[in-house]
Amino acid sequence: MSVVDDIKARLDIVDVVSEYVNLQKAGRNFKALCPFHNERTPSFVVFPETQTWRCFGACGEGGDLFGFVMKAEGWDFSDALHALAQRAGVELQPYSPQEAEKQAESERLRDLLNAAALFFHEQLFQSPEAELARQYVIQRGLDGQTVEDFVLGYAPDDWRHSLQHLQMLNYTQDEIVDAGVAIRNDEGRVYDRFRHRLMIPIRDGRERTVGFGARALDKDVTPKYLNSPQGALFDKSRLLFGLDKARRAIRETETAIIVEGYMDVMQAHQAGYQNVVAQMGTALTEAQLRQLDKYATRLVLALDPDTAGINATMRGLNVARQTLDGDQVATFDPRGMMRYTGMLNMDIRVASLPQGQDPDDFIRENSEAWEALIADAVPVADYVIEQATAHLDSHTSYHEREAIARELLPILTATESDIQRSGNIQTLARRVRIDERTLLQWTQRRQTVQTRALPTLREQRRLAGRTTDTARTAPAGGQPGQSVLREGFFLRLLLEQPERLFAAHRMLRKLQGSDAALADALAPLNVDDFSRPDYQAVFGMLEQALYQDELDSLDYLYRHLPGELLTIIEELRVTPLEILHQRLTGALAVELESVLRDQARVNALPEPDTDLFVQEALMLRHSRLERESRELYFLQQDAQTLDSNLTDQSYQTTVRANVRARQLIAKALQQMKSIAREI
Ligand code: UTP
Ligand code: MN
Repeated sequence: MSVVDDIKARLDIVDVVSEYVNLQKAGRNFKALCPFHNERTPSFVVFPETQTWRCFGACGEGGDLFGFVMKAEGWDFSDALHALAQRAGVELQPYSPQEAEKQAESERLRDLLNAAALFFHEQLFQSPEAELARQYVIQRGLDGQTVEDFVLGYAPDDWRHSLQHLQMLNYTQDEIVDAGVAIRNDEGRVYDRFRHRLMIPIRDGRERTVGFGARALDKDVTPKYLNSPQGALFDKSRLLFGLDKARRAIRETETAIIVEGYMDVMQAHQAGYQNVVAQMGTALTEAQLRQLDKYATRLVLALDPDTAGINATMRGLNVARQTLDGDQVATFDPRGMMRYTGMLNMDIRVASLPQGQDPDDFIRENSEAWEALIADAVPVADYVIEQATAHLDSHTSYHEREAIARELLPILTATESDIQRSGNIQTLARRVRIDERTLLQWTQRRQTVQTRALPTLREQRRLAGRTTDTARTAPAGGQPGQSVLREGFFLRLLLEQPERLFAAHRMLRKLQGSDAALADALAPLNVDDFSRPDYQAVFGMLEQALYQDELDSLDYLYRHLPGELLTIIEELRVTPLEILHQRLTGALAVELESVLRDQARVNALPEPDTDLFVQEALMLRHSRLERESRELYFLQQDAQTLDSNLTDQSYQTTVRANVRARQLIAKALQQMKSIAREI
């Protein structure tokens, strides 16, 4: 039994969910108001028998125990694993001795950083020399509660005070240097990194201190903010300041507001705007956005207008400011952000602050106006167009206008949906005074070049011809054990050649055709196609690696997956399928038989090809749809005890879409087989 199964066996989903929502018995199941969206009548259901949950209302999401706490807490899989393991009393086995050692080390460094934060915090209150810092806090308009909430502190004006304090707590000089609290110079002398500064602890998503931002108290001291050095614990490109406190509010409002600095976040939180986080002076990275993507559908950038990235006439794409400590500061690149809008399926907007004010100033001046400022944020595409064309006037030559249009078009059309794309082209056409048809021609030429990279129809048929699979007609469904096996098998194929996922997506899209009702049932494969949370996490990582073009090796996974999941990948990759199966599901005879069939099928192939892969993807989706229809069936049985919104038309529509999607998949599978036979 895997750790995950072990944990699930020891915890009851009903108990866990009850801590978040008020569950009411409804037949064999429980219902409640969905915690993930606003509603009046309950459409959130927990199924004790399957230990799953689903919202049959607006969000339509569902999953198991892990999925629930991940969503409710805004955790990733590894966070959930640790928390639930602790709760269930299950000990997590580290992946390897080296891994265990590494974990123990970073655990100790985090303890050290925590101790340091508390030391600085005490200093702020107790030390006479902290008077200036105390005044500074007041002068910046931060109240006592904020000082407590953010554990603000003061680093003494001394070369060894912090060092000695930590040594007294039995940390070695090496550890204190490793944690970034002290520095060792070329002569080997060790001294405090932070001196006479206001200390702002930076915490990760699990609320552990991982570093500091330290504000100079005197004017003209450089750098203004001295940060912990970049390292394993403190990775600026992944961290968002304030996220530990903003998570809940971001989920509730589905909106994350990104500001530039520490003060902006603290001021916003103090004023009651808690969905605000800061990027800490680096360019926004995809890793940061992915974290927000977990619980926000809307992203608002509220960055200083005098930031180089905005003010520069946007000619350079990667404008950055350098500070004296060598940190790159505040790259705000709305054009770069465009890339994310389609990929993350997020609504990204830009809020315009008055010239010369950052969010900190703005909120201090008039905190109520913040809401309107955020509400008035414009879509990032409009913002980019506006910025790039603001200087055009009636004298601007066609030549120059064409140049601007050609530069913007790829950005405006690459990732956005069809509707947004045509809206963008319309706006641009108006601004550069070049008609839409011409602009469209320019984009189409570009697209033809791109599509050439995809296999032609003939190539696809040739690929399909390599399939030797014969025995399949309609997808097998039914036993959950079997679908888990299917998931493992699919992941194994995916690990071999992740980019084949796109072929599966194309197929699903093709099946969907122009029928909008099938948009959900035939959406691209996603984590919900897997029922096991650990598989979900592995798939999520693979997907992420794919989108980041990091898929040429499995390196990415090895760097980002927690040890327990690496074990799973290793198992999937090296274990013969039937043994893998025994371990995963406890080997029911009937299932074993089908595994061996799969095994024979794989052995018969020189290498699993795209067609087999797409078939497996379709089967996977088919089992998911079956799973969901079983849940719907449960629900129908309890219909009288549930509220009417569950049995109304939208419910019927879901059932119908589900059935239709399964028919389409079954038909496609049959056709794929006949192509194979034909050649
Ligand atoms: P700003 O220079 O805009 O500072 O840097 P700020 O947040 O308005 O600070 P105050 O109001 O003058 O105190 C924005 C962010 O960039 C990072 C910090 O995260 C800062 O909050 N930064 C800035 C550094 O890391 N180092 C620096 O020297 C300056
Ligand atoms: Mn400021």
